[in-house]
Amino acid sequence: MNPFVSDHAGDRMPAPSTITIFGASGDLTRRKLIPALWDLSRSGHLPRVAIIGCARSQKSDETFRDELRDGIRAHARHSFDEESWSTFSRHIYYVSLESYDHPPSYERLATKLSEVEQQLAMEPNRLFYLSTPPRAFAPAARQLRDAGLVPKDSNPYARVIVEKPFGIDLSSAQVLNHDLLEVLAEKQIYRIDHYLGKETVQNLLVFRFANGIFEPLWNNNYVDHVQITGAETLGVESRGGYFDHSGILRDMVQNHLFQILALCAMEPPVNFSADAVRGEKTKVLQALRPITKEDISSRVVRGQYISGSVLGRNVPAYRHEGGVDPNSLTETFVALKLFVDNWRWAGVPFYLRSGKRMPKKVTEVAIHFKAAPHRLFGSDTFEESAVPEASRTTPNVLTIRIQPDEGISLQLGSKVPGQTMAIASVSMEFRYASSFGVAAPEAYERLLLDALSCDSTLFTRGDEVEASWKFITPIHEAWSTMGGGPAFYSSGTWGPRESDELLESSGRRWRRP
Ligand code: BG6
Repeated sequence: MNPFVSDHAGDRMPAPSTITIFGASGDLTRRKLIPALWDLSRSGHLPRVAIIGCARSQKSDETFRDELRDGIRAHARHSFDEESWSTFSRHIYYVSLESYDHPPSYERLATKLSEVEQQLAMEPNRLFYLSTPPRAFAPAARQLRDAGLVPKDSNPYARVIVEKPFGIDLSSAQVLNHDLLEVLAEKQIYRIDHYLGKETVQNLLVFRFANGIFEPLWNNNYVDHVQITGAETLGVESRGGYFDHSGILRDMVQNHLFQILALCAMEPPVNFSADAVRGEKTKVLQALRPITKEDISSRVVRGQYISGSVLGRNVPAYRHEGGVDPNSLTETFVALKLFVDNWRWAGVPFYLRSGKRMPKKVTEVAIHFKAAPHRLFGSDTFEESAVPEASRTTPNVLTIRIQPDEGISLQLGSKVPGQTMAIASVSMEFRYASSFGVAAPEAYERLLLDALSCDSTLFTRGDEVEASWKFITPIHEAWSTMGGGPAFYSSGTWGPRESDELLESSGRRWRRP
């Protein structure tokens, strides 16, 4: 039983708390964090909280509130109304910091927190959100400790959410873990990956472990291969400067796609506690067969978009985006062939791909089952037009659509009505929107509520992050020593030709979602 949560008409209600956001002038605060808190408040899930924004710019509480009000109007799920706003904004404050490493600024923050806690008659129950540039994570944590705001171990009420990116390679992630663990206990560190807050990502666990019928098939006896796609129509927008140093392997695969992979491939945890779930996910990442310099060309494809047309709009090449080096070799697309070397998945390839400027925004997992052991009906009985070619060898595909049009579908071969034995592909569908008829909460709502409730199940653990970097870093190292660069693909296509070849060599095809 978690002592920091009470039951509230069947829903959990965390204890009253302060939420201090570092990087409060940034986009994430305005577009995601404050709208999520607003939505939690409007749906009756937010406890009594005071919100304190901290950043380096100077501004008054009033100016800060005005900025947040605009953010809510533009980005929240619940509509804006003055009455709710006046209650919500009453306890929003702003404290400017000279720098993230400036002790007197933290003393001012400590004074403000005590004042607010007194005013609201609440116990010190403090959540700090580091939405700053990564170089400020460790200094800010140290300053919080020095100001007495995050007593280690003794006080699980003081905890820190750390935004991405958590490191840029294995050694920087290890250093960051080490620095944070000098200040905080692991249970006080909440490394955020917003994909874990998505309802459909959590549903992967429910789907697998609350239903008895899929688990017996969920292994190398029945699964031919798995495809995980994270495709976006967007380019790098205003983030060219950041992205050009990151690339899609760091930006999407090391975190979001690997979390989906881990949930998909993990063993059943002994219970639904943070450590049991994260322990099983970590084992999957540790079991990934390393990619070496020798096999990188047969297991990894990198691409970069050139100009083209996406959703009917002409878009420029990556190298012409703002903040991007005109000779950049950064990958905006990557496809990988992975193996989880354990008993369950021996020999089953997991194909992952992620790209910017694809024809469609879609995130999905597709489990391709093996074909029936004996082909009773010849392949020519499959109706050409009705059966996607890729499915003729493996007609059963279970697709978990993470976004958009969230749902699950199972593709089956079925007899076409008529006098011949023609077979067509049909689909059994479950759609969130029609089954539940309510809008799913935003990822940040769930994650903030969990952090307020001291529940770190949906946050990544230190060893888990290191395991993912341990796999990814050698790919970057091989790329930098091998020379060469990404293959080009036109915006609005599914990546370079080499991505198709990655599967074709074994007679498989990417789905065209
Ligand atoms: C972020 C990446 O973590 O995830 C972005 O930095 C990417 O580049 C985004 O666009 C995708 O998130 P979502 O929720 O829109 O799929």
